Amino acid sequence: MDIQWYPGHMAKAKRMMQENIGLVDIVAELLDARIPLSSRNPDIDKLAANKKRLIILNKSDLADSERTKLWTEYFSRKGFVVICADSKNGRGIKDFYPMCRELMREKIERQRQRGRILVPSRVMIAGIPNVGKSTLINRLFGKNMTKTGDRPGVTKNKQWVRIRKDLELLDTPGILWPKFDDPEAGVKLAVTGAINDEIVDKRELAFSLIGYLKENYPGSLEKRYDISIETDDGDADILDKICRKRGFFSKGGELDLQRTAIVLLDEFRGGKLGSITLEEPDR
Ligand code: G4P
Repeated sequence: MDIQWYPGHMAKAKRMMQENIGLVDIVAELLDARIPLSSRNPDIDKLAANKKRLIILNKSDLADSERTKLWTEYFSRKGFVVICADSKNGRGIKDFYPMCRELMREKIERQRQRGRILVPSRVMIAGIPNVGKSTLINRLFGKNMTKTGDRPGVTKNKQWVRIRKDLELLDTPGILWPKFDDPEAGVKLAVTGAINDEIVDKRELAFSLIGYLKENYPGSLEKRYDISIETDDGDADILDKICRKRGFFSKGGELDLQRTAIVLLDEFRGGKLGSITLEEPDR
């Protein structure tokens, strides 16, 4: 993954979104179910004003289902229609069409009453890089029409794809940028792999993750790495223990903490530490 958010990329992505938004009825916003707030674009409400809105909590297979329930309630209370999805395996995708129809019910009814020909409703999928936009679009198309893993900021030719007779999807996802201004959000985005972590100290990132897991998911590290954690163990002590247990030593026989941090982050991202969500809605 190599995402670099130069101001030029951001401006281009925003322009693309503004150009296309006028063409759609519904904006389906993808969020990472593990970090629903940090993966939200702060300007989306402005950008998608006057559009019907759908929130898709994607990667819910990796998230804590109890917390996903809380997040679903949170966004529902704010008036959004919410879908929990695992686009990789196709779970939750079947709700997409009925939810869109429900959102468009009044408009369809009005068209019907006026005897107008039914115009298909149009949807844009929007979200930050790596949240799963291409994967979801491929699922909805039912075949591999767009390549997953597209580089952010690259505009493809605009194309409408009819997924049902009354529903069309814009084959160009709206690329948004995440919440950068809040340092905590930045850490969560890096931990989940949403942004390039090359620029971040992996060990620091691993410490943040360890600290969070210790507080919120006690037992997860012990279970995965077969270690015991004492109450006075700091985050660095825990990384040490994982390192020894895995036998990661450098040629000189020193602990290879860098490698340990990389493995820990990778395993977290792959769901090997369990189903974990890094933030909770305000109660
Ligand atoms: P984007 O268009 O928003 O940039 O994201 P994209 O679809 O390229 O997905 C980014 C990565 O997230 C991909 O993994 C994809 O498989 C994975 N992904 C998407 N949706 C889900 C989901 O609901 N659950 C899980 N667990 N993963 C999801 P990758 O490692 O880059 O590619 P691949 O090795 O899976 O092909």
